[in-house]
Amino acid sequence: MSTFHLVDHPLITHKLTIMRQIETSSKDFRDLLDEISMLMGFEITRDLPLEEVEIETPICKTKAKRISGKKLAIVPILRAGLGMVDGLLRLVPVARIGHIGLYRDPETHEPVEYYCKMPPDIENRLVILVDPMLATGGSASDAITKLKERGCHGNIVMMCLVAAPEGVARLQKDHPDVDIYSAALDEKLNEHCYIVPGLGDAGDRLFGTK
Ligand code: PRP
Ligand code: URA
Repeated sequence: MSTFHLVDHPLITHKLTIMRQIETSSKDFRDLLDEISMLMGFEITRDLPLEEVEIETPICKTKAKRISGKKLAIVPILRAGLGMVDGLLRLVPVARIGHIGLYRDPETHEPVEYYCKMPPDIENRLVILVDPMLATGGSASDAITKLKERGCHGNIVMMCLVAAPEGVARLQKDHPDVDIYSAALDEKLNEHCYIVPGLGDAGDRLFGTK
């Protein structure tokens, strides 16, 4: 089974509390999601492999370490995942970006796909799939299936902001090879499959569409 990593650094938890509040503006919501994404990126990239290289400082030659191994790709689930891309890009500016467009059908709550564009070498990269909300887990699960159809195996991690237990369970069942990083694990889903207490509709709050 995959591991669920709760990334509950005090700075992240504090910023998330502000995001949850109903009176927080779209601008502040966007800025905070960006900041949290960068902070979470530190945790997600903690185990990147290093290799030893010879360098020359102004003083002498020495051995030092630099990141080796797979290059990165960041894959946001549209729309709300877009708000997590820039924070990660500030840490890894050379990462490639793929996009998966999914929306939840308001009646069935099942994801509907409308767009998918990936870097051609996606299977050789470490893929960070990003979406602030892991509710039923349907969108994330479908997105991971799409990535696997393109050859990604054992190289995907999921990064979200708020997860519901139902979404974590669904993802661990459907994709036991994909670790999940989240800033919070909330209580449950309500009858509309929104996370409780959650933060409402992430896409609408991010883009001011409601
Ligand atoms: C939200 C969210 C996730 C999905 C989570 O997107 O950003 O993609 O719902 O729900 P699930 O785990 O039950 O699938 P939404 O469908 O509202 O689309 P939007 O980002 O375009 O608003
Ligand atoms: N999508 C959201 O944006 N919020 C939820 O709570 C659930 C799905």
